[in-house]
Amino acid sequence: MKKTGSVNKGQFDARVCSNAQAGKRFWRLRLELNGDGAKSFAAALPGQFAELDVSNLPLPNKENIPDDLRDSAGRSILLRRPFSFSDITASETKTEVEILYCVRGPGTLRMTSLREDGRVSIIGPLGNGFSVPADKQTALLVAGGMGIAPLEYLRKFLSVNHPKMKIIIFVGARTAQELSCGPEGCMGGSEAILATDDGSVGFKGPITLCLEEWLQKTGLTGSQCVMYACGPEAMLAKIAEIARIQDADCQVSLERMMACGIGICQSCAVECIVPNSKETVYKLCCEDGPVFDSREIVFRS
Ligand SMILES: Cc1cc2nc3c(=O)[nH]c(=O)nc-3n(C[C@H](O)[C@H](O)[C@H](O)COP(=O)(O)OP(=O)(O)OC[C@H]3O[C@@H](n4cnc5c(N)ncnc54)[C@H](O)[C@@H]3O)c2cc1C
Ligand code: FES
Repeated sequence: MKKTGSVNKGQFDARVCSNAQAGKRFWRLRLELNGDGAKSFAAALPGQFAELDVSNLPLPNKENIPDDLRDSAGRSILLRRPFSFSDITASETKTEVEILYCVRGPGTLRMTSLREDGRVSIIGPLGNGFSVPADKQTALLVAGGMGIAPLEYLRKFLSVNHPKMKIIIFVGARTAQELSCGPEGCMGGSEAILATDDGSVGFKGPITLCLEEWLQKTGLTGSQCVMYACGPEAMLAKIAEIARIQDADCQVSLERMMACGIGICQSCAVECIVPNSKETVYKLCCEDGPVFDSREIVFRS
């Protein structure tokens, strides 16, 4: 898994290897790419993403449509949908990309109808991805809800490419059922700390409070660790504040509604601080991100 970070993006045709339900609303889709697509995605970094064309996929049978999506299910899909990678495995001839997705609307609902050997058009790899500072011994990965997806791949990437780095994963969700990693928090051997709002598993309360208490208990200082976070914006704002107090490096992966994914439509603006000034500028989540230094972001929530 040697990565350069310099990747040729393109539009590729992928074969569906599997599409398995992994929880009430969670699915894991594995796509196989060959040729140039295999080369491009083999070099993709954790935190980068792809745009899938789901416009031609059929709806699942009526009984498999959740009640809250019955009205919106039939909406036509004009735009591609962005997804990060929860895993990438590459061999000489092919690359497999895994997408961990949550059924939220008509596009992701249609994705559940994908079957082995189906075909999907995929554009990527897009965006910048997480980076790894040279001088840190510990990586704290903090996920809220579906934010776990790119952090699963980051965990694997760090354990292969930075084997001396200690990795601790904090995963928060509203309930045990909404933990896409399962209540056991299976994280490929890395230490996982779970939190749920209702206390049905792990720490009772927000994952950010759990992280704060853990930092206090362990005495780990900001200079020893790097924080990586993905999840709801309010959670990211709180993590950014914790990182600022600890003086820790912190990278946050942001979500924005994305129309083109390649810097044309300007729909994915992120307000950023201009260093040493009161001014702000707008950057593009799809091109300048989705991963940003937490010190750079103007959080509004
Ligand atoms: C860079 C990036 C990476 C992503 N990675 C993943 C991933 O790994 N797994 C995953 O399940 N989802 C991921 N998403 C979110 C995913 O793109 C949306 O859930 C999906 O597009 C919803 O499509 P839909 O047609 O099912 O629902 P829609 O009808 O398009 O939306 C359903 C609901 O979700 C909200 N929503 C849709 N897209 C977004 C978004 N981008 N940000 C915030 N709210 C949104 C809508 O406002 C609406 O309320 C990612 C988004 C971005 C920008
Ligand atoms: S999604 Fe179009 S510019 Fe970012």
